[in-house]
Amino acid sequence: MKTKDIFYVGKDLSILPVLKVFGEKYGLTSKIIESLENYISILEKEQYPIFIYDLEYQTIELDDFLRLQINFDQTPINIAVTSREEQVPDDFLIILRKEDFKKTESYILLNYLRKNADKLGDIIYTWKMQRDLIRNIPLGMYRTTTEGKFLLGNLELLNILEVPSFEILSKLNARDFYVNPADREKWIDLIFKNKVVKNFEFKLKTFKGKTKWVRNNARGIFRGGALEYIEGFLSDITEEKLFKEKEARLIENSLNQRLFLINLFKSRASYVKDIDLALLEIAENSCKVLNASRFGIWILKDGKYENKIVYDSEKNELQIEKMAFNDKIHHRYLNFLKQGIQISTPDVTKDNRLTELYEDYIKPKEIKSTIDTPIFVENELWGILKCEFTRKRDIDRQDEWFNHILAFYIANLLETARAIKAKDETQNYAKKLEKYFEEVILLLSRIVEERDPYTAGHQKRVALIAAAIAKQMGLSEEEQQKLYIAGLLHDIGKLYVPSEILTKPAKLNPVEFELVKIHPEKGYETLITLESLKEIAEIVRQHHERLDGSGYPRGLKNKQIIKEARIIAVADVTEAMLAWRPYRPSIPINEVLKYIDENKGKLFDAEVVEACKKVFYLGMFPQD
Ligand SMILES: [Fe+2]
Ligand SMILES: [Fe+2]
Repeated sequence: MKTKDIFYVGKDLSILPVLKVFGEKYGLTSKIIESLENYISILEKEQYPIFIYDLEYQTIELDDFLRLQINFDQTPINIAVTSREEQVPDDFLIILRKEDFKKTESYILLNYLRKNADKLGDIIYTWKMQRDLIRNIPLGMYRTTTEGKFLLGNLELLNILEVPSFEILSKLNARDFYVNPADREKWIDLIFKNKVVKNFEFKLKTFKGKTKWVRNNARGIFRGGALEYIEGFLSDITEEKLFKEKEARLIENSLNQRLFLINLFKSRASYVKDIDLALLEIAENSCKVLNASRFGIWILKDGKYENKIVYDSEKNELQIEKMAFNDKIHHRYLNFLKQGIQISTPDVTKDNRLTELYEDYIKPKEIKSTIDTPIFVENELWGILKCEFTRKRDIDRQDEWFNHILAFYIANLLETARAIKAKDETQNYAKKLEKYFEEVILLLSRIVEERDPYTAGHQKRVALIAAAIAKQMGLSEEEQQKLYIAGLLHDIGKLYVPSEILTKPAKLNPVEFELVKIHPEKGYETLITLESLKEIAEIVRQHHERLDGSGYPRGLKNKQIIKEARIIAVADVTEAMLAWRPYRPSIPINEVLKYIDENKGKLFDAEVVEACKKVFYLGMFPQD
């Protein structure tokens, strides 16, 4: 491939640019120049040099071309006239003659040019300018065949493609420079479709293997509907792309920073318990990430939006402000927020939604741009998030979204905190009720014991032992609680036993004992009428039953006796034996445990006995 500048010369004037340039210089229009003869006659008439063109010359040998050197601006310009351009060295201005352009004509042309070297000025100037422009323009100019063979190119093209010489370029194919071959297919399709394809960007791999981004502007040259060749120019946009990527990365970083912050906030479980701490941290961190001058949070309280916190990045401090927004003064402003509208404005002086705030708030604080975001809880405006800038600043969608996310997050916090507070109150009330219930039970149990001073505290201790056995047996807390209450009430039926029998400081005779034996049934009858004590009633009824059927009142056996009653039975006997009685001393724990152990499986449930033994051996019996 040649980089020489070529002018086609022939009898057909349309391919005679050299002469045409002359013609145009002398004010000749293309209409007059209909043939070479015509052109020459005009030149003759105007007393310009004459061409003689009818001399014979048939063949041209290799290396046989006519040359001429003229000086222009002290620069030697080589001119060659030939039909074999490939023989002519680089840097020649070639006048390529057509086959029918005789050698003599070439001589004549050269003679003419020699004589009129000074008049060549403009042609050469134009030629040089075009040549320099094409050579030095920072665009890679090219012409290729449809298949991708390079026909022409300039220096910048070599630079972009990192190809060492035109010689090498002529052996390469444009297709091989595409990183993604599909890009070229797509581009060729566009050329066929649109003839001109502008700003087509693709990634290319240079001759040396480097990756570059280029922009391609091209047009297809068609002849008779067929694409003959493609020409255009490439520009290296790698830097531009890198800058854009860097910018994209910066934006992405700022996005990541924001997402990170939101996740950080979300991970702070303590925020729900301490809303003020949460608002404080949110204000400070968000202010920094948004690059804002001030970031404040106002929360609704008694009809006013009162300031909770403001972080001032210039003073680097957190502040509580006295300023409150309310419907009386800031009706219009608040109405926008109540409609869920975020007041985001790069220039506060031009936003009439902020007029009500101007004198008292915006002006003294020198706010220039602001993003005011509503905080909604259950469709009601609960607060305002104010992100403020003391320098005028463009506000983009990202800034707005981030503020929306923050407002949404704060709303969630407020809602959750409120729900938790309500739940805590409910729990407190439930605990209070529980305590109340327990105290009533205790009172009942004391009333029973009031009538039987010798057994004072018996029920309380039975309750504790029974609950400890239940715990030892791995029963649920609810079950332990049930046994505790059953223990407290198990002898409530004794209210129906004459007090002189209960207080008799001696062993009871059989008649008296029969009277005592009514207490489980009486206890049952008392408790069964109370909805919450129905289960307790049955335990109380069975607490004197024994596995072998020797107990009372019904003489139930084994599994007929409910588990809870079997536990109370052991606890009751154990406590009674341990206690001092007017008619006998208290029995040591070892003997008590030996007694229940001996009756294990006969009178008492074996599992319960084992648990009871453990409770005492391990010192687990809770002291009153
Ligand atoms: Fe009893
Ligand atoms: Fe008892």
